[in-house]
Amino acid sequence: MPKKDFIIVAIDGGAAAGKSSTSRALSKHFNLMHVDTGSFYRATTVKLLEAKVPAEAGPALNNWLSSLKLGTHIDGTSASIVVNDWIPDSSIRSEKVNANVSHYAAIPELRKFLLDYQRNQARIAREKGFAGLVMEGRDIGSVIFPDADLRLYLYADPAKRAARRAAEGLTDSIEKRDAMDENRKTAPLSVPEGATLVDSSELTLEEVVEHVSQLVSEVQAQ
Ligand code: DC
Repeated sequence: MPKKDFIIVAIDGGAAAGKSSTSRALSKHFNLMHVDTGSFYRATTVKLLEAKVPAEAGPALNNWLSSLKLGTHIDGTSASIVVNDWIPDSSIRSEKVNANVSHYAAIPELRKFLLDYQRNQARIAREKGFAGLVMEGRDIGSVIFPDADLRLYLYADPAKRAARRAAEGLTDSIEKRDAMDENRKTAPLSVPEGATLVDSSELTLEEVVEHVSQLVSEVQAQ
């Protein structure tokens, strides 16, 4: 029997490391609200490109941020961001967004704007009666929820990740994005201190989910 009535699971890792599939499986199995923070940066990138706001700090970005209205839409166990009344669709996974998202995600002002929104997802998950929150991204265990009950870092070697994307029929600049995400000044992608590293290079999704589910069960029982 779980002793904890609410847990936070933070999952970080590079592009196509298997974060979304793993998070979705955990969310269903443990009734955790699933939040994919990459989709936040992707959705804002779609809108910033549409508004022709350059990927740099400055008045254009500040003006845009000051008129930004964010909401949350819950579908099953997944919560998605709503940007100015728009519920993001598959356009957030386009090649254009893949090529631009890391540039916008490196801007401290945008990250700061999304910080409270991300932390607030835990409150929403509690209010909606979930048994916890599973949040995936690049800085969840390091910046957003450094005190999460479980902090995981998913790793898979780049060739395996490129093959996964190709199998999904998607073109993605995985290594380029990783390099930008790892080298930016604000909240770079890194293995948070004390996080559990899971190398999925030689594992199937089922094996990863089984391993990680065991870790979640242990945390719930503490
Ligand atoms: O997880 P993803 O590949 O959909 O994320 C898209 C981009 O968003 C990624 O290249 C970097 C950025 N991102 C971030 O900077 N911080 C997060 N917590 C999540 C994503």
